[in-house]
Amino acid sequence: METQELKEMKELIRKLREYNYYYYTLDAPLVSDREYDELYDKLVLLEKKTGIILPDSPAQRVGGDVLKGFADHKHITPLLSLDKVKCKEDLTSWEARVKKLIQHPMEEEEVEYVVELKFDGLTINLTYDKGNLVQAATRGNGEVGEVILEQVKTIKSIPLTIDFKGKFEVQGEALMRLSVLEEYNKTADEPLKNARNAAAGAVRNLDPKVTAKRNLSAFFYNLGYYEGISFSTHMETIEFLKDNRIPVSPYIKKCSNMEEVIEYLTYLERSRDNLDFLIDGVVIKVNQLELRDRLGSTGKFPRWAIAYKFEALEVTTVLKQVIWNVGRTGKVTPIALFESVDIGGVTVQRATLNNWEDILRKNVAIGSRVWLRRSNDVIPEIMGRVEDNPGEHEVPIEKPSECPACGSTLVEKGPNLYCENSLSCRPQLVSRIVHFTSRDAMNIEGFSKKTAGLLFDALDLRDISDLYALEYEKLYGLEGFKEKKTQNLLDAIENSKKPALSAFIYALGIDHVGKNTARTLADRFKSLDGIMNASCEELREIQDIGDVVAQSIINFFKDKRIRQSIQNLLDKGIRPQNLESPADDAEGDLALAGKKIVLTGKLEDFTRNEAAELIEKAGGTVVSSVSRAVDYVVVGEDAGSKAQKAAQLIEEGKAPTLKIINESEFKQLLKPNLEKKYR
Ligand code: IVH
Repeated sequence: METQELKEMKELIRKLREYNYYYYTLDAPLVSDREYDELYDKLVLLEKKTGIILPDSPAQRVGGDVLKGFADHKHITPLLSLDKVKCKEDLTSWEARVKKLIQHPMEEEEVEYVVELKFDGLTINLTYDKGNLVQAATRGNGEVGEVILEQVKTIKSIPLTIDFKGKFEVQGEALMRLSVLEEYNKTADEPLKNARNAAAGAVRNLDPKVTAKRNLSAFFYNLGYYEGISFSTHMETIEFLKDNRIPVSPYIKKCSNMEEVIEYLTYLERSRDNLDFLIDGVVIKVNQLELRDRLGSTGKFPRWAIAYKFEALEVTTVLKQVIWNVGRTGKVTPIALFESVDIGGVTVQRATLNNWEDILRKNVAIGSRVWLRRSNDVIPEIMGRVEDNPGEHEVPIEKPSECPACGSTLVEKGPNLYCENSLSCRPQLVSRIVHFTSRDAMNIEGFSKKTAGLLFDALDLRDISDLYALEYEKLYGLEGFKEKKTQNLLDAIENSKKPALSAFIYALGIDHVGKNTARTLADRFKSLDGIMNASCEELREIQDIGDVVAQSIINFFKDKRIRQSIQNLLDKGIRPQNLESPADDAEGDLALAGKKIVLTGKLEDFTRNEAAELIEKAGGTVVSSVSRAVDYVVVGEDAGSKAQKAAQLIEEGKAPTLKIINESEFKQLLKPNLEKKYR
């Protein structure tokens, strides 16, 4: 008789399994982490009480005792390797070979192909029998691998029990997701250098608890031995795996000819940077299993599949030099220079090393061979040294004691070095101006790094508020500043005086305060004063603002020099638009705070002056010409070249936030103010 407790345990396991599958395999959680944890804790309590741990309990996944060694395991069906090609022409020859081999005089064969990702992890082979995961082994030499069952059980997307009761072997790849690696490295004593090695090291670790901590994933792609079921195509085997909740690749496509294969392969190659795991190519397989049988294998490789390799995104190179870069906040960051290498088609010769502590952690030196990784749009990163121990030829990296730009003594704060000469250290000021004027901040068009440097060098611009005291005569004649450019810049500066509060906060360049946090602060405190005087507790109460950010905001506004700088800006007439209490010259809800608007054509319900007045009351500014700095172009009847120019800028992708609107959309924007007026 089954006890009540056992029944309850089974029900808990059933639920947890379901949630686990949705969370880890489908990436679509059904319940919150808290709800999951509560059920899990309940189960653990019952397991302790009864002393029974059922075979499919998630408690099996935390990693048991340290193992003494790896036992051998003979795969029922040997694991073959794949022959590979590197270019599309070679694929066409492979296709010709396949077609030639299967040629049958009596029939015209239509070969179907399946294109899949070629995962770059550690190959594992699972055995299921009677609905249970009974064995897991590494590939080894293809015939005999090592038993890694306890380690594999910690991979949460791999089911411990399944519906199908027959015996079969399935081959797949254990991986560490790149996001997981990044998260792991944030707190790890010893950062992991590369996702493949991280996964392999975790699976081939005698302590399953180490494997569990690495939070691995897996995808399965090849059925080896099976009994009690039959299939006619590869796609059917994939469906079988899916039905049994064994994780398969999210990218898999059946193609009816080589053109389709190449089309999908090209798409995958382009999508590669967006994947959260490493792949090193794609695999093309013949879909029909009967054709596979006829093609057979060479002993080493099956003739029915081929790997198409991509270029590596992780390479090794030799670190040559480290230079130190001074940023906007005075943070001094090491940049590594190395022998130029090609990573996935891009030649690179510099990478970030984050900070001094990072250099110590990664234990890299000049002359070290290092792992380098490039991901989408990000500057390449040095992940760590290739050899564990430094060689004799390596020279330690020196920690600078003075600012490489201005010579001030550097100060150590946490893992970073800082130059505190924020007032006259050139790179700091230049990047502060560039940030201050940038589109999402004060939106002053025409401000490049070069312009900022020029103003620093030639006009002695030292405080950001000096921007608002620039004079035509002084600016005119500087390199590149003819009449039009001079006037445009001065106009743009003048037009920036009524920024949205959030844009102003972002413009200040507080460490850890990006656009979103700035908006959150503006929404919560409504005014500049409110934000400047917020207490640490008030800040921390806000969702998304943690200790580090709160402290950074507090420290920023505590700084006397910063308070003075802000006062200087206010003295020059800058009016960040408060959200509740309207600014002196504005009334209403400021629906257009900080927005720049061009009016063109004839409006039905307002004269030009009325429209302009409404815009200004709503906190916006009317400007006369269309540029990328403009937010809205309101198009009335018989609108002419301005509407055309706006359309062109948008089409060319030069004005990502510019919108063309008609009169009724314009009224919609003004709605809060109009309603107020007629209330
Ligand atoms: S099929 C008999 N499909 O790459 C052929 N292999 O370099 C069985 N691999 O040994 C392999 N992704 O470990 C196949 N989608 C995929 C794969 C894949 C990665 C591995 C596999 C193979 C190695 C060959």
